[in-house]
Amino acid sequence: MNWRITVLCENSVGPISGTLGEHGFSALIEPSEGTPLLFDTGQGLTLLHNALRMKKDLTKVQKVIISHGHYDHSGGLLALLTECGPKHIYAHPGVFTPRFRIRDTGECYPIGMPHSRDELEAAGAAITISKEFCEISTGLFLTGEVPRTIDFETGDQGLYCDQTGQEIDTTPDDQSMVLETDKGLVIILGCCHAGLINTLEHVAYSTGRRDVYAVIGGTHLGFCGQEQLDKTITAMKGWGVKKVAAGHCTGFVASARLSREMPKPFQVAMVGYTLEV
Ligand SMILES: [Fe+2]
Ligand SMILES: [Fe+2]
Repeated sequence: MNWRITVLCENSVGPISGTLGEHGFSALIEPSEGTPLLFDTGQGLTLLHNALRMKKDLTKVQKVIISHGHYDHSGGLLALLTECGPKHIYAHPGVFTPRFRIRDTGECYPIGMPHSRDELEAAGAAITISKEFCEISTGLFLTGEVPRTIDFETGDQGLYCDQTGQEIDTTPDDQSMVLETDKGLVIILGCCHAGLINTLEHVAYSTGRRDVYAVIGGTHLGFCGQEQLDKTITAMKGWGVKKVAAGHCTGFVASARLSREMPKPFQVAMVGYTLEV
């Protein structure tokens, strides 16, 4: 099976005329056989627009994977269903949990899914909920919930399930996608709140394979501490991944580090980024 992966939504744009950026992520997965799948939907500001500019027909998409219940990955679902017809949606049971970011200043922002399950189902969503590693299409797997076993991957500190900051949100619903290819595994990340190395180790445990060819998407290294950034990059070098196409919540500082320390594999997964494998 061959695949084409195209980033439809991301914080920055490449040279494709008329495409727009937003804080979010979405990627179209086109297999050589069968129908395309969508991994995440961005906030909903750019998905349909960018797909049109890139001549990607989202009415052909039957399956949509939501990496986790943050607005910048799930916000485009309702417009997608409304404009492009019913879809099968795959997500973790925690995807509809209310969530908030509370800044050091005390400011609180809702960052959960902007649409309810009822609204989505009324618009044509058939929702499959699972926290297990599973194959949802030939050669295409979801990690399900990722165990947090790596001690230095402590994650993002400002996330809560309530507005008063009592209940820390570890984002257990965070999951990634895995493609089997002739060159090795390709892993597509939403925000990777579980941590890059936790995710790679979980994929290795679940598949019995450590030959990761490419990692594409949000690494969340832009929201973690210095120690996690240092140790994750050191560990990444040991994996021998051929392409590290980082974007979204990786941020400028972590991207610069990856670019300097992993110059050969590093790429920027901006809108229009395409990997054919
Ligand atoms: Fe995100
Ligand atoms: Fe997120």
